[in-house]
Amino acid sequence: MPIDTTLDKNRIPRHIAVIMDGNGRWAKKQGKFRVFGHQHGVQSVKDITEGAAELGVEYLTLYAFSTENWNRPKIEVNALMTLLVKTIKRETETLMKNQIRLTTIGQVDTLPKDCQEELRQAIEATKDNTRMALILALSYSAKWDIVNSVKEIAQRYKHGEIALEDIDEELISGSLSTRTIPDPDLMIRTSGEHRISNYLLWEMAYSEFYFTDVLWPDFRKEHLHEAIANYQQRERRFGKTGEQVSEVK
Ligand code: FPP
Repeated sequence: MPIDTTLDKNRIPRHIAVIMDGNGRWAKKQGKFRVFGHQHGVQSVKDITEGAAELGVEYLTLYAFSTENWNRPKIEVNALMTLLVKTIKRETETLMKNQIRLTTIGQVDTLPKDCQEELRQAIEATKDNTRMALILALSYSAKWDIVNSVKEIAQRYKHGEIALEDIDEELISGSLSTRTIPDPDLMIRTSGEHRISNYLLWEMAYSEFYFTDVLWPDFRKEHLHEAIANYQQRERRFGKTGEQVSEVK
């Protein structure tokens, strides 16, 4: 059965988080090096960013480099960093044209200096854009973020700035690197893997998950539309019963 991609414009997910997976396998299938897959993945990044903005998505978070990715062969890590620098440099103008604000989450200070500088400039140039936020998770892992948040809260407690009773979900959410971003409504992972790989663990407590076999370099706007159409068929209950949810509709 063909998938219905007629989208309800009033139920577009406000925040979509993506795990862009399958670049290596895509390249291997063609007898090429893994980096070839990453290079082609950039076109998917562009297509999906444009597609999300067109639909009225407000926040798009892309898992571009995890803390664990540092363990990959040096040649691949270097190639990914170079690709990142080049892409940001080349695409800042497109971000401006499309009114997209670039931001990051993660340990950006562990990235190569030229990468940090390129990011700084693009973030500064696009900071007043209001159509959509494009958030790159770079040297990011959710456990790192949670550990950081616990340390920050412990410090504040130690200095008498907060009491034990002040520690609640809101305080923890407000101490994470995602503090200014609403929780994802929809998480998409490509390439047939069914894992969340240390991504936005706290924030995705009630996100809808969508997994597709499509490899990231092949992922295009129509696949994004399919994911959203699938999301719109679901009932988000947030722990309530189906009856309770339909009562408030
Ligand atoms: C996962 O595929 C992909 C990555 C670790 C990197 C994603 C990076 C890009 C798409 C390019 C640069 C991004 C931006 C934002 C400009 P994989 O290598 O794990 O694939 P595999 O599972 O098939 O080995």
